Amino acid sequence: MNYTANKDRYNNMKYNRCGNSGIKLPAISLGLWHNFGSKDNFENCKAMVQRAFDLGITHFDLANNYGPPYGSAEETFGKILKEGLKSYRDELIISTKAGWDMWPGPYGNFGSRKYLIASLDQSLKRMGLEYVDIFYHHRPDPETKLEETMHTLDQNVRSGKALYAGVSQYGPELTRRAYEILLNLGTPFIIHQPNYNMFDRWIENGLLNTLSELNIGAIVFSPLAQGLLTNRYLNEIPSDSRALKDGRFLKPSDITEHKLNKIRRLNEIAQGRNQSLAQLSLAWVLRQKAVTSALIGASKVEQVEDAVGALNNLNFSHDEFNMIDGILAG
Ligand SMILES: NC(=O)c1ccc[n+]([C@@H]2O[C@H](COP(=O)([O-])OP(=O)(O)OC[C@H]3O[C@@H](n4cnc5c(N)ncnc54)[C@H](OP(=O)(O)O)[C@@H]3O)[C@@H](O)[C@H]2O)c1
Repeated sequence: MNYTANKDRYNNMKYNRCGNSGIKLPAISLGLWHNFGSKDNFENCKAMVQRAFDLGITHFDLANNYGPPYGSAEETFGKILKEGLKSYRDELIISTKAGWDMWPGPYGNFGSRKYLIASLDQSLKRMGLEYVDIFYHHRPDPETKLEETMHTLDQNVRSGKALYAGVSQYGPELTRRAYEILLNLGTPFIIHQPNYNMFDRWIENGLLNTLSELNIGAIVFSPLAQGLLTNRYLNEIPSDSRALKDGRFLKPSDITEHKLNKIRRLNEIAQGRNQSLAQLSLAWVLRQKAVTSALIGASKVEQVEDAVGALNNLNFSHDEFNMIDGILAG
């Protein structure tokens, strides 16, 4: 029940300033999208979060509908807080989001004021918190006026239930419009959460430049392509892997011979750098100046430890870059 954090936890982590805000985020952050639901082993969930914090990972990312079932990852995290981590609350950056389907009917999805205010209240209850550090709008809403959604982010901050605001999956133009609205309101819009990894480089076509120009932090999710860019699938599809255990977002059919061929060649480059493939993949996203943090998921304590090991070698030679680009283009 009692948890005392490692006293050396701040010795090795790298912290990057998040945009032009007053806070820094760890180069590696941990998300609770998968493997933290009520069907998962609680002791393993707790061990992963505690080990992460012991290694200097101060940022934990949630959303209203992480589980399954929806809401249960926040409940798991609330229980971990209650069992010791909460005494370190002022050392933690905890985020949550709303924007995807959460409850039935027209008020539990997308970007209305009705949804975002109720959802944050529910998230706080599930985690047993008075406030979150970052509250995100989880995805663009094609129907609700952006002004309504942004005014609600502002209200969630002004009410003291969130300290900072962010958006996820917004394209460059929408991000710029959101920025202008929030700037006028004086809302601390400090962070954007897009997906980014070697297999999915869409943010290189405009978003990263926009974020740099506006001085908004970028925390990139699925930097390991949900496990594809690790040693997980090199030889087989393990029975305890996301592809076999879950299969909603990463399907066995996604693991094609064409992809595996690239993954194996990338693994050879990683070996040449004395890194695991996961470490190479994390170093690769962190090479971008605009990237504040790489937001990983994990199913085991060792994966968290391996991820933090990426920080031992974040540099690439030109040859390595060219080889990686060549493999990815193939
Ligand atoms: N804003 C959004 O719309 C959005 C969407 C998705 C995710 N996210 C956030 O991003 C977080 C991370 O997403 P993600 O879980 O897809 O990230 P990811 O880091 O790309 O994938 C995590 C998976 O990779 C495997 N893995 C991790 N470290 C490993 C290592 N060192 N060696 C071997 N395998 C390793 C594990 O797979 P196994 O489980 O198979 O072991 C783990 O579950 C989420 O938790 C969430 O907070 C946000």
